[in-house]
Amino acid sequence: MTDRVTTAEGSGGDCCIAVRNTGPLSGEVAVPGAKNSVLKLMAASLLADGTFELSNVPDIIDVSIMAELLRAIGAEVEVLGRGAVTIRNTGDLTPVAPFELVEQMRASINVLGPLLTRCGHVRLSMPGGDDFGSRPIDMHIAGLEAMGASFSYGEDYVEASVDRLRGADIMFKFPSVGATENLVTAAVYADGVTTLENAAREPEIIDLCEYLVAMGAQIEGIGTSQLRITGVAPGSLRACEHETVPDRIQAATYIAACAVSGGRLDLLNAQAGHMQMVLTRFRDMGLEFEPLPYGLRVAAPGRLRSTDFATLPYPGIATDYKPLITTMLSVAEGVGIVTENLYPGRFRYVEELQRLGADIRTDGHHAVIRGVPRLVAAEVTAHDIRAGAAMVVAGLAAEGTTTITGVHHIDRGYDDLVGRLQRIGADITRFDA
Ligand code: UD1
Repeated sequence: MTDRVTTAEGSGGDCCIAVRNTGPLSGEVAVPGAKNSVLKLMAASLLADGTFELSNVPDIIDVSIMAELLRAIGAEVEVLGRGAVTIRNTGDLTPVAPFELVEQMRASINVLGPLLTRCGHVRLSMPGGDDFGSRPIDMHIAGLEAMGASFSYGEDYVEASVDRLRGADIMFKFPSVGATENLVTAAVYADGVTTLENAAREPEIIDLCEYLVAMGAQIEGIGTSQLRITGVAPGSLRACEHETVPDRIQAATYIAACAVSGGRLDLLNAQAGHMQMVLTRFRDMGLEFEPLPYGLRVAAPGRLRSTDFATLPYPGIATDYKPLITTMLSVAEGVGIVTENLYPGRFRYVEELQRLGADIRTDGHHAVIRGVPRLVAAEVTAHDIRAGAAMVVAGLAAEGTTTITGVHHIDRGYDDLVGRLQRIGADITRFDA
C-alpha cells in the first residue's frame, strides 16, 4: 500500500485507462475493504487514546486523504501495507479540519461528531458554510443541536461547541448515512441515552457501530433503523483492532464486468448478505450466483435481460450501484428504467455512455435504457468514482479500444481495479497521458 497523498505516486492525475472487449472473464478476485466504511472508522479513532490497528484497508486515495486529515488534527497515522493501517491518538488534538483536505472528500464531515463530543469544539472549513457543496448537512446539524451543541457559520466554515452533549431522541426525516454516523459517534460520550429513529442501516454503519462497541461504547439496535446509544464517561473509550467490512460496491463492479463480458468469477470475501436486493435483481437479468465458503461465485451464461431498478436506502438498491446497473442495461435485451431516489439528476455519466453508443434517455430522475447488442469504443471521462468504474465496465462491452480519462476519480475508491481485471483476463492497461 502506498500513502499516495504524500508520495503522489500513482495518484492517477495524468493517467488514462485503455480497455477492450475481451470476451469471457474467469478466475478469482479478492474484494477489498469498503471505502465507505474505513473512512468512518478512521474518523472515529479520534474518540479514544491509544493505538488502533485497522486491517483490510483498501489502497485508495481517499484513505490517504483521511490519513492527512487525521494528521492535521493531531493523530499519527501509519500506512503499513497489505491492508494494515495504525492510528495513534495521544489525545493532543486540534479540532480543526482544514479546507484543502475537506474540499477533497465528502467523508471529511465524519470528524464532526467525534471531535465535538471529544473536544467540545470543532471547526470545519467548507465551501458555503452549512451547505456542503450541493450536499447539505442539515440533518447532522439539527441532530447535534438537539443534543445541546451550538453552531456558528462563517463564509467558508462551520463551527460547533458544547460543554458536554446530552442524550436526545432524534427522528431523521430521511435515513442519511452521514448523519447517522455523525450522531452515533457523537452520542457515545453524551450525558444520557440518545435514540436515533429512521437511522440508516447500511453494512458500513454496522461496521462503524461494531468498531465503537469494541472501543467500549454502548449501542443497541445495531443493524436496525432504531439505534439506542447510552453515553459512557468522556475519555473512557479505548483503542481497538478491527477488520474493515468488504466493499459491496467494488464486489458489484466485478459482477458487472462479468455480466457484460460473460464468463465466471469467484469473488473472494464478497458478502452476499450485504447485497441481497441487488443480487436478486441481477438474477432477474440472467446472472447466476452461488455462495462460496469465502465469497460468492458469479456466472454470466448469456446476454443480459433488461429489468427496472430504483435506488433506495439500504436494504434497497444503493445509489452507488446505479452507473454500473445503467451500463449493464445498455447492453441487455429489452428496455429498462432506472429511477434515482437519492440524488435527483445524478446522471452525468449517461452522456459518456451515449458516446459509446448506448441508447439512453433521461427524464428528471428516470433513465430509460434500450439495450444494444454492443457498445462502440470512444474516449470517455470518469466524472466520479462510481461513474469511472462504470466507464471501465462499458469499455469491456465495447468494440475497439475505449480510453478513459479522469482516472484519479477511480483511484479515490478502487484498489487496483486495472490489475484485478487484468488477472481475470480483461484486456486493460493504464498509461500516462
Ligand atoms: C454516503 C456515501 C455515498 C452514498 C450515500 C447514499 C460515503 C462517504 N458516501 O454519502 O457514497 O451514495 O451515502 O448511500 O459513505 N441529505 C440531506 N441532508 C443531510 C444529509 C443528507 O438532505 O443532512 C440528503 C443528501 O443530499 C442526499 C441524501 O440525503 O440526497 C442521502 O445522503 P446521505 O445518506 O447522507 O449520503 P452521504 O453520507 O453523503
